[in-house]
Amino acid sequence: MSHLIAPSVLSADFANLQRDVEMINRSDADWFHIDIMDGVFVPNMSFGFPVMSAINKYATKPLDVHLMIVEPDRYLEQFKNAGAANITVHYEACTHLHRTLQAIRDLGCKAGVALNPHTPVHLLEDIIDNIDLVCLMSVNPGFGGQKFIENTYKKIRELKAMCAGRNEDLLIEVDGGVGVHNTLALLQAGANVLVAGNAVFADENPSQMISQLKNISPQIKTA
Ligand code: DX5
Ligand code: ZN
Repeated sequence: MSHLIAPSVLSADFANLQRDVEMINRSDADWFHIDIMDGVFVPNMSFGFPVMSAINKYATKPLDVHLMIVEPDRYLEQFKNAGAANITVHYEACTHLHRTLQAIRDLGCKAGVALNPHTPVHLLEDIIDNIDLVCLMSVNPGFGGQKFIENTYKKIRELKAMCAGRNEDLLIEVDGGVGVHNTLALLQAGANVLVAGNAVFADENPSQMISQLKNISPQIKTA
């Protein structure tokens, strides 16, 4: 599978949201990455259901919803109704993660788990079979435009090793500080979904930047 690109709408121009959604529709992007922040789990707030539903009205690609909120179980159905295809909850916000993931799958969505930069991959050892997507945070969640944390490469490799033979279809998503400078190394480490906010929307040609990120491919190893 070629890697997927998920532009983060957090960095879009909210006064021109329809324009930016349509740009992503026409681009080489695969998903819309939707960041939901509650001001409690992370020190920032983003947007809620009305804005997400507005995005969904125009989006022609799946919505990949990243919940940076406490007690996500309370809202899963509403996120599904607002158009979520994937729902990712934070490991750090879920006391009963197994139950939460089951509830997401019961809604017909892909079930994702996000790990903060300090949360070790090995904590997923006993739940990895029940996860469709792991989102490795490569910045501290809460804001776009931050610097990529290099330890993420090690976490990707560990996750790749963990899912070998157990969950080969696992999507390994990297979120935060992704751009042309680190895409190749992330893909070589084993990532297959890249979220990009600032790299896309701060570029003078966002659609072309998406194509660039999409067309980078891991070098084929020769003997
Ligand atoms: C951070 C969010 C990210 C963010 C990424 O809390 O989860 O999705 O939008 O933005 P960049 O690509 O600018 O780091
Ligand atoms: Zn995100």
